[in-house]
Amino acid sequence: MNRILVTGGAGFIGSNLCERLLKDKNNYVVALDNLYTGRLSNLAECMKSDRFEFIEGDVQDFHDIPCDQIYNAACPASPPAYQKSPTNTTKTCIFGMINMLELANKYNATVMQFSTSEVYGDPEVHPQVESYRGCVNCTGIRSCYDEGKRCAESLCFDYNREFGTKIKVIRIFNTYGPKMDPEDGRVVSNFIIQALRGEPITVYGDGTQTRSFQYVDDLVEGIIRMMNDTPEEFTGPINLGNPGEFTMLELADLVLKMTGSKSELIYKPLPADDPTRRKADISLAKEKLNGWEPRIALREGLERSIAYFREII
Ligand SMILES: NC(=O)c1ccc[n+]([C@@H]2O[C@H](COP(=O)([O-])OP(=O)(O)OC[C@H]3O[C@@H](n4cnc5c(N)ncnc54)[C@H](O)[C@@H]3O)[C@@H](O)[C@H]2O)c1
Repeated sequence: MNRILVTGGAGFIGSNLCERLLKDKNNYVVALDNLYTGRLSNLAECMKSDRFEFIEGDVQDFHDIPCDQIYNAACPASPPAYQKSPTNTTKTCIFGMINMLELANKYNATVMQFSTSEVYGDPEVHPQVESYRGCVNCTGIRSCYDEGKRCAESLCFDYNREFGTKIKVIRIFNTYGPKMDPEDGRVVSNFIIQALRGEPITVYGDGTQTRSFQYVDDLVEGIIRMMNDTPEEFTGPINLGNPGEFTMLELADLVLKMTGSKSELIYKPLPADDPTRRKADISLAKEKLNGWEPRIALREGLERSIAYFREII
C-alpha cells in the first residue's frame, strides 16, 4: 500500500486530489487539515472509502504520520483568506514546510510543495518561465503569502541539498472548479456566484488585467505525473497552469452569457500589488510530464463549475 499524506486535504485542490488518489486501489490517503478555509463536505466521497482517513490538525505542529508521499497543500490561498491573519499565513507556509520536510526525512518519503505563480509577484517577464526570479514586494499586503511561499521553496531546496530530502516543487497558476468555497473571494467563484444570484459583478480596476485559468482536473493530472512519473533528481520548480490568457472583462462576459444572468458590472479600485498580467509558460511541464498540457477549455470548465455552484447555493 502506498501511504499518502495530503495536507490541506479538505480544501479545494486537496479534496479533488484525495478523490483522484483514492481511485488507485493501491493508495491509502490521510488528509490533515485544520479546516481554516477547508470544508469537511468536500471530503464526503472520500469518507466512504476504508482507504481514507481524516485528521483535524495544524501543519504548524509536528504530526507523526507514517507515509511514502506527502502533498503539502495546506495554506489559505485566496487573498481575503490569507490576508485575514497574515502572520498565520506566513507561519503556515514556513512551519508547515519544515514539519513536512522533517516528516519526509523520518520516513524517507517524497514531499511535494504546492507553490504558486505568486512567487513571480508582479512579473516583468511574460509569460513566466521557471528561471524568472520574480518581482515581489516584501512589505506589501500580499507578501505574507508570496514571501511565505518563496521561503517554503527555499527550505525545500536547502533540505534537499543539506539532507538529501526528496522534494518536488510545483508552481500552480490560477485554478478553478468544483469544491471551491463559494464565499472565499476568488475571481471565478465570485463572478459565477454573483451572476447566479443576480447581484452586480465586481470587477477590480478597469478589468483589463489578465489571468490564465486552469481547470482543477488538469492540475491534478499534472500533480500526479510530477510525483510518480519523474525521476528523483527532477525536483522542479515546475509551472502547472493553463496558458490561455483572458482579461477579467472577458471572463465576466463569458460567465454572464453562460449563466444567462442580467447582472451588471460594477468597478472597484484595484487592490495593492495586484499583478497586471499572469500567464504560465508550460514548456518544462510538457517536456518532463509526458506531454502533459491542459485539456479542458475555459468554456467547458466554467460549465462544470457553474453546475456545481448552482447545486450548492
Ligand atoms: N487555487 C489556486 O488557484 C492556487 C494557485 C496557486 C497555489 N495554490 C496552492 O494550492 C494549495 C491549495 O489551495 P486551494 O486553492 O485548495 O485553497 P483552500 O483554501 O481551498 O485549501 C487550503 C486548505 O489548507 C487548510 N489549511 C490552511 N492552513 C492550515 C494549517 N495551518 N494547517 C492545516 N491545514 C491548513 C485549509 O483549511 C484548506 O482546507 C495552497 O497551498 C495554495 O497556496 C492554489
